[in-house]
Amino acid sequence: MKVLITGGAGFIGSHLCDQLIDKHEIFVIDDLSTGQIENIEHHKSRKNFHYVIDSITNKSLLRELIDKCDVIYHLAAAVGVKLIVEKPVHTIETNIYGTELIFKFAALKNKRIIIASTSEVYGKSSKVPFSEDDDLVLGPTHVARWSYACSKAIDEYLAHAYWNEKRIPVTVVRFFNTVGPRQVGHYGMVIPRFVQAALKNEDLIVYGDGDQSRCFAHVKDIVQALDNLMEIPKTYGETINLGQPEEVSINELGVNIIKMCESRSKIRHISFEEAYGRGFEDMKKRIPDISKAKRLFNFQPRYSLKDILNDTIGYYKTRTCT
Ligand SMILES: NC(=O)c1ccc[n+]([C@@H]2O[C@H](COP(=O)([O-])OP(=O)(O)OC[C@H]3O[C@@H](n4cnc5c(N)ncnc54)[C@H](O)[C@@H]3O)[C@@H](O)[C@H]2O)c1
Repeated sequence: MKVLITGGAGFIGSHLCDQLIDKHEIFVIDDLSTGQIENIEHHKSRKNFHYVIDSITNKSLLRELIDKCDVIYHLAAAVGVKLIVEKPVHTIETNIYGTELIFKFAALKNKRIIIASTSEVYGKSSKVPFSEDDDLVLGPTHVARWSYACSKAIDEYLAHAYWNEKRIPVTVVRFFNTVGPRQVGHYGMVIPRFVQAALKNEDLIVYGDGDQSRCFAHVKDIVQALDNLMEIPKTYGETINLGQPEEVSINELGVNIIKMCESRSKIRHISFEEAYGRGFEDMKKRIPDISKAKRLFNFQPRYSLKDILNDTIGYYKTRTCT
């Protein structure tokens, strides 16, 4: 099959290329805004791998790519809390307009689409765990943080509209924190940020009191799931959580990383305001209910937090050495 991966030079996208390259012909479009060419360097010589450095907002190019492919994984987006807070216009435009184009062109030829959404859409809900049918509880529109969740929620509405009205076979996947090698820290992602600091014996900066907890999934579990659900018709028109329900507090995460890196780093707390500016709100917990994914395609994460940290630390160690 011919598979288009938007955002294929990004963190999850490049692992998806690794997952699919032996079975399919891969086409990547990425503008390298947060992705990196080195993430796909190892595939460049493969005959069944093609890439173009451009934006999904290049309409004629996007249309050509969609026409050519049988399946589209739409991962390209403005990503990362820091980027979203600093560039809300860019976030909204990329995440809504870009997705609109994907659907428009895919609908012309009834193409299969899998579209990346996020646990952020659950917003401030205090429910534990989050299930796909839960209400979304977002903050006020003048707080930039919510523009990401809201833009992804619009993408989800679009997906359901295309399925309900035009029977375009689309599946929405809501990723919870996905981690592993190649994820970069400078967009605010906590594990790469902590690992890089620990390897340099610098302070690990924890935002807030650090008692907030998160659940982290290994990117390998996530791309395996993306591969598995490609050809499962009962996932058409569905929204599905993808994550790993094992919970860890940010303080605990910092301590584990310092220990595993044999680092002399200390944990230092700063306020959310200091990190992201006034009005930033953080959630105490964000735990996925993955029973729907289990029911629909037998999703079962195989990697633990320890595996994730081992792999991420290993990755950053080799990068520091080279
Ligand atoms: N990593 C996570 O924990 C997580 C959690 C929830 C949702 N997601 C979603 O998963 C998807 C992939 O995220 P990621 O973590 O791999 O981040 P990433 O930043 O590594 O990947 C996004 C990719 O999209 C590319 N891109 C951005 N705008 C583009 C445009 N206009 N045209 C072409 N390419 C463009 C970037 O260069 C990058 O390579 C995103 O849709 C994101 O919202 C990720």
